[in-house]
Amino acid sequence: MSGLPAWISAALQGKLDHVARGVLRDRAKAISDSYRAGGSSAVVRSDLDALAYALVRMPATYAAVHAALAQTIALIPGFQPRSILDVGAGPGTASWAGVEAWPSVQRATLIDGNARLLDLARVFHDASQRQSTAIDFVLGDLAATLESAPSADMVLASYALTEMAPAALNDLLAALWQRADRLLVIVEPGTVAGFQRILTCRDMLIAQGARIVAPCSHESHCPLRDSTRWCHFAVRLARSRDHMITKGAHVPFEDEKFCYLVAGKGVADLPRGQRILATPKVSKAGVVLTLCKPDRPEQRLIERRDKEAYRAAKRCDWGDIVDV
Ligand SMILES: C[S@@+](CC[C@H](N)C(=O)[O-])C[C@H]1O[C@@H](n2cnc3c(N)ncnc32)[C@H](O)[C@@H]1O
Repeated sequence: MSGLPAWISAALQGKLDHVARGVLRDRAKAISDSYRAGGSSAVVRSDLDALAYALVRMPATYAAVHAALAQTIALIPGFQPRSILDVGAGPGTASWAGVEAWPSVQRATLIDGNARLLDLARVFHDASQRQSTAIDFVLGDLAATLESAPSADMVLASYALTEMAPAALNDLLAALWQRADRLLVIVEPGTVAGFQRILTCRDMLIAQGARIVAPCSHESHCPLRDSTRWCHFAVRLARSRDHMITKGAHVPFEDEKFCYLVAGKGVADLPRGQRILATPKVSKAGVVLTLCKPDRPEQRLIERRDKEAYRAAKRCDWGDIVDV
């Protein structure tokens, strides 16, 4: 089960002292209602709103980015980024996942148009044990600020493209790719719309010469492009007591569905297996894995009598990459 690092949870907890949970719950509900109605994080207008957002959404977005970065590390273990550019950074969720994943990060630039969320990112930075990481907080619209933003080993866009006008996506993506010295990591909600955006980005980046590091293990036609299925993954995360109260939730965990894309420059010798696209199904005959293959997804039965392969398949999970 995934969770926020202790230092972020502690900083959040510190901000919650003296805040009435009922008021926080009302703000969280207003934010969720706005999201459900197709709105954006523009509904976050006060420090209290930012706190409510961080409490109910940050554990999930952190868990999704953490999962995407874990897949990246497994595929390119030698990658040691020194710099991050985090666009639509909000409270810095993706950057914190990045610095936790790679102690090599020395500098991060966080751009966001929302002053309240960026203030919260500052609070988290002050609370972090990594004061040696230089963080530059840039308040402003991406269209205006990206031009003067530094390039970085890794550019992160976590749940950010979903808030951009579709007509702006082309130019924005080109600017992000230009600033990515090695990797561009995009994480989006695990919806059909999120997948469509990822597909659009994938096409545009491949046309620019990108290697797809994950989740695809090829640059060919996406087998889910014309399918009723869409490429997404899930991560289970623990809910804190305050998270549950603020969300009015009754179970101490939630499953976050997400889509992602990691595109690379100059990444040679990528191990190429097949991504598991759904929860493996165990039957009397064996384990059925739904695998991503160029042009079509494949259902592969790993028979029970093939003992070694069966044992390995039983340990596999949705989102893992395998070589069968
Ligand atoms: C859903 S939040 C995601 C925040 C953070 N990346 C995360 O994963 O938790 C989207 C963020 O994008 C920012 N944003 C949206 N459009 C923007 C724009 N045009 N320029 C700068 N920031 C923008 C919002 O202010 C918000 O903080």
